[in-house]
Amino acid sequence: MGRNAEDNEGPGIGDPISITVDTYNKVASDFRRYTLMEGDREYQESTLKYTLEMLPTSPTILDVGCGDGRDTSFLGKKGADVVGLDLSKKMVDLARECYPDCKFVYGDIRYTPFSDNTFDCIWASASLIHFPKNKLKEVQKEIYRILKKEGILVLSFKKGKGEGYDDEPYGSPRYFSYYTLQELKEYLTMFDIISHIEYPDTLMNSEFVYCWARPCTYKNPLKGPR
Ligand SMILES: C[S@@+](CC[C@H](N)C(=O)[O-])C[C@H]1O[C@@H](n2cnc3c(N)ncnc32)[C@H](O)[C@@H]1O
Repeated sequence: MGRNAEDNEGPGIGDPISITVDTYNKVASDFRRYTLMEGDREYQESTLKYTLEMLPTSPTILDVGCGDGRDTSFLGKKGADVVGLDLSKKMVDLARECYPDCKFVYGDIRYTPFSDNTFDCIWASASLIHFPKNKLKEVQKEIYRILKKEGILVLSFKKGKGEGYDDEPYGSPRYFSYYTLQELKEYLTMFDIISHIEYPDTLMNSEFVYCWARPCTYKNPLKGPR
């Protein structure tokens, strides 16, 4: 981590999201290889199962930044009506190839085609981490719109401080925002975090945090859609 979104000396022309997505387009098959090698799948599957226990039967789920579609497929096999969404065309092609029975949409979480209150759950595993912190509000607004008011947002992030580009492990830049739990609570103005767990990311030698959050309602006068 080093360069910042506001620095003049960024890795090239473009905003952090398009630069990051360009990297995913270049490294889609390497990404798949890395994720299959990961020793952390046990943790991830337990978070997926825990989430399903909180949801109604056959829940509607949007897997935001679905990557190669592993979680989309897992949730579908457990009976969810799930759609994977990703802004990397190459990732969506790969996901469709790996899991032909699942639904995948090529698109941006900031501007989705879904109606208001469509999903029981928005599952965002390691995808909102690519937004600069000052853009998190824009993303939240869209998530808030398409998530049912009694629904759940699940997001995972890398524990730490600051934000900037990192070329590892692909040799091509991706933008990361690192949070402490307290800081995320402050940025997440439209949601209340109701629980979280931490686990080690052995591949990246860092720590990941999964959070479960509910849309704010009138019950919390300090937060809410603004
Ligand atoms: C670290 S990967 C996570 C993949 C998968 N969720 C997982 O946990 O293995 C981040 C994914 O988010 C996608 N992404 C980044 N910005 C996005 C956006 N604005 N809308 C949709 N997807 C996005 C990237 O293309 C990439 O596939």
